[in-house]
Amino acid sequence: MRILYVVGTRPNFVKTAPVIAAMRSRLPDGHHVIVHTGQHYDRAMSEVFFEELGVPAPDHMLEVGSGTHAQQTARTMERLEPVIENEKPDLLVVPGDVNSTLAAVLTAVKMGLPVAHVESGLRSFDLSMPEEVNRIVADRFGSHLFLHSEEAIGNLRAEGIGPERMHFVGNTMIDTLVALEDRIAAAGTAAKLDLSPGSYLLVTLHRPALVDGPLLAETIAQLSHLAQRMPVVFPLHPRTRKMMATLGIEAPEGLTLTEPFGYLDFLSLLTDAKAVLTDSGGIQEETTYLGVPCFTLRANTERPVTVELGTNTLLGLDPAAIAEIPATLASRPAAPHEPPPLWDGHAAERIADILSPPDPELLTA
Ligand code: UD1
Repeated sequence: MRILYVVGTRPNFVKTAPVIAAMRSRLPDGHHVIVHTGQHYDRAMSEVFFEELGVPAPDHMLEVGSGTHAQQTARTMERLEPVIENEKPDLLVVPGDVNSTLAAVLTAVKMGLPVAHVESGLRSFDLSMPEEVNRIVADRFGSHLFLHSEEAIGNLRAEGIGPERMHFVGNTMIDTLVALEDRIAAAGTAAKLDLSPGSYLLVTLHRPALVDGPLLAETIAQLSHLAQRMPVVFPLHPRTRKMMATLGIEAPEGLTLTEPFGYLDFLSLLTDAKAVLTDSGGIQEETTYLGVPCFTLRANTERPVTVELGTNTLLGLDPAAIAEIPATLASRPAAPHEPPPLWDGHAAERIADILSPPDPELLTA
C-alpha cells in the first residue's frame, strides 16, 4: 500500500505524527510518503515539530510559503499534482482545515485518489472563517472521514454525508500529548521563564478576525491591564507579530511577549498555566484534556465538546471580556473533569485499524 500524508502547518504536524507512526507500524512494508507543503516554514513553526514529534523528514517539500488564500491554495495544488503523479499513492491522508488541507483534497479528488480526512465534521457555522470553507470541502470529498467528537456525526449527516464514510475514532492531537506526557512534564518551561506553576495566564491569538484589525490593539491593552494582577505570557504567532508591527502596536510593559515555542515547551507552559486565553482550536482541546481553564476569544467554536465537557469558556469576540477572567477563575469550583469520549491516546491506532485492518492470521498466531 502506498500512502501519501500531506501536512503544512504547525497543528497539522501534531495531528498527523501519531497517524504516520501507527500506519508505519501496521504496514512496515508499505510506502509512506510525507509531503510538507511549506505553508508554515519558520523553524519555530515547522522543523522543531518534526524533530520533537519524531516525524521522519518529509520526502517532498513544496515550499509554497505565504500568500493570499488563492495563491497558497493554487501553488499547493500545482506542486502536489506532479508528486501524486510520480508517487502513485493508493490513498492520501490529510488532517485539519488549513489551506494545505483544501488544496490537497481538491488535487486528490480531481485525480481520482481517495482521501482520508483526519478531524472531520467540525463546524463553526461561520463561513467567514477560511477554515470552515476548507472543512466543508474536505468532508464533501473525503472517502474516509475520521471524527474526533460525537457532534461531528450530526454535522456531517446534516450535509447529506452517509454513515459508511464516518468513523468516530477520537482525537489524534491528544494521542501526541499522551505519547509525550513524560517529556512535557520534564520540560519545566515555566521555571525557565521565572514563572511559578499555577500563577500565570498563557495567551495565544492568531485568527484574522481578531488580529488583522482594530481588535488587536484593544486586546493588547486589556492584557496589559490584566498583567497587573497576574503574569501574562504571550508567544506571538508570526501573523500576530506582523500585524502588531503593521498597526504600530508597541509591546506594553508587564506582558511577556515571546517567540513561538516548540511543542514540548508550549505544552509544558500549558500544563502549568493558571488559565489560558486563546483563539486556537487545538488549544481548546488540549486544555480540555489537561483540565486547565481555557477562555476562547471568539464568537463561536467548532469544538462545542470543549465547552460542554471540558474547561472552555467562550468569551465572544470581545476584548473587554478579558477583564472578567480573574473573577471567573475565582468563582469557578475546581470541577472534576474527564476527557471527551475516545480522547485517550489511541485514536491513530483506530485509524490504522480502519485503513489497514490487522491481519487476522497475525492476531491468532
Ligand atoms: C494557518 C491556518 C489556521 C491555523 C494556523 C495555525 C489557513 C487559512 N489558516 O493560519 O487555520 O489555525 O495556520 O498556526 O490555512 N508566517 C510566517 N512564518 C511562517 C508561517 C506564517 O512568518 O512559518 C506569517 C506570514 O506573514 C503569513 C502569516 O504568518 O502571511 C499567516 O500565515 P498563513 O499560513 O497564511 O496563516 P496562519 O495565520 O498561520
